[in-house]
Amino acid sequence: MKVPLLDLKAQYASIKEEIRTAVDDVFDSQYFILGPKVKELEQEIARYSEISYALGVSSGTDALLISLMALGIEPGDEVITTPFTFFSTAGVISRLNATPKFVDIDPDTFNMDPEKLESAITHRTKAVIPVHLFGQCADMDPILEVSSKYGLPVIEDAAQSIGAQYKHRKAGSMAEFGVFSFFPSKNLGGAGDGGMVITRESALYDKLQVLRVHGARSKYYHKIVGGNFRLDSLQAAVLLVKLKYLDSWSEKRRKNAALYNRLFAQSGLIERGIIKTPVEAYKDSGDRNHHIYNQYTLRTRSRDKLQEYLKEQGVSTAIYYPLPLHLQECFKDLGYLKGDLPEAEKASGSVISLPVYPELTDEQQEYIVEKISGFFK
Ligand SMILES: Cc1ncc(COP(=O)(O)O)c(C=O)c1O
Repeated sequence: MKVPLLDLKAQYASIKEEIRTAVDDVFDSQYFILGPKVKELEQEIARYSEISYALGVSSGTDALLISLMALGIEPGDEVITTPFTFFSTAGVISRLNATPKFVDIDPDTFNMDPEKLESAITHRTKAVIPVHLFGQCADMDPILEVSSKYGLPVIEDAAQSIGAQYKHRKAGSMAEFGVFSFFPSKNLGGAGDGGMVITRESALYDKLQVLRVHGARSKYYHKIVGGNFRLDSLQAAVLLVKLKYLDSWSEKRRKNAALYNRLFAQSGLIERGIIKTPVEAYKDSGDRNHHIYNQYTLRTRSRDKLQEYLKEQGVSTAIYYPLPLHLQECFKDLGYLKGDLPEAEKASGSVISLPVYPELTDEQQEYIVEKISGFFK
């Protein structure tokens, strides 16, 4: 049996006609940059996220960058984030010649540990970027509480988590800014790069709009230095089709995660301490956490050998992320050493993400769990 990590061809087959029509409409209009399709997508994403404003941009990375620019982050400023995330969360901080400051993660959720946030704040700290990793929100209440105590704005990196909820609030809608990525492998993926920033504050939205078009409020008159952060109409047209299906796809991912949880419980691997299945946190008073499983990420022993074995058995997996950001070569001047952020380092050595895409069948999941059990026999 062959099981890919993600099967975008299967998804496309189910919506091909709608996508083709939407793409044809854009070609017929010959309106390729921003325009009515982008406006419509912005309105739909704002509605979906239960927030006032949304701004379509060129990628999730640019969504983070433009948010930091809108906050006026300058050289020498510090921005606090997590070391266990995709590179761009911290890369954008360095691109503004500011300094990323890393706070270790909660080992259960892989998200920023709110208890470690306050001690990382200095007089130079200007913002905080928690990441909602793998489809599950970071513990936002304590993060927002500490941040507001110090007057720090927060950017939610919800690149992997559109549609996730934290205590009935939508991912991205809880802070000054929320950021989404439409990279094709995301739960809502375009046909290329794309991203979105959401905010509830009109002054911040106004700033974002200007920054998106080289800082010009009227064409060729530049008030500030911005960039080309525009979203294409083609991406917006594709995403408008896919947005209608997003919740049903995320529901299927949740069902697949639940089936894995049951199969792994039956396998005895959890009891034997060999694997740990993902934790859905903040369930203390009812179902207040809605994980959308952009990834189904296990912790396991002998991770690299297991990955190799699964590959031989036709099962594709991925390691998100093999090296935490504080130990990346490009950040060596920040002065972090091995052992500084132990939970992120342990996670990097033990995580493996299994296929969890909506079209995955029960038989494929049974096959994967059977192979993992066989490996640990
Ligand atoms: C957590 C996180 N932040 C930011 C990004 C950047 O998004 P993009 O690839 O659209 O630039 C990604 C996506 O890859 C991501 O996973």
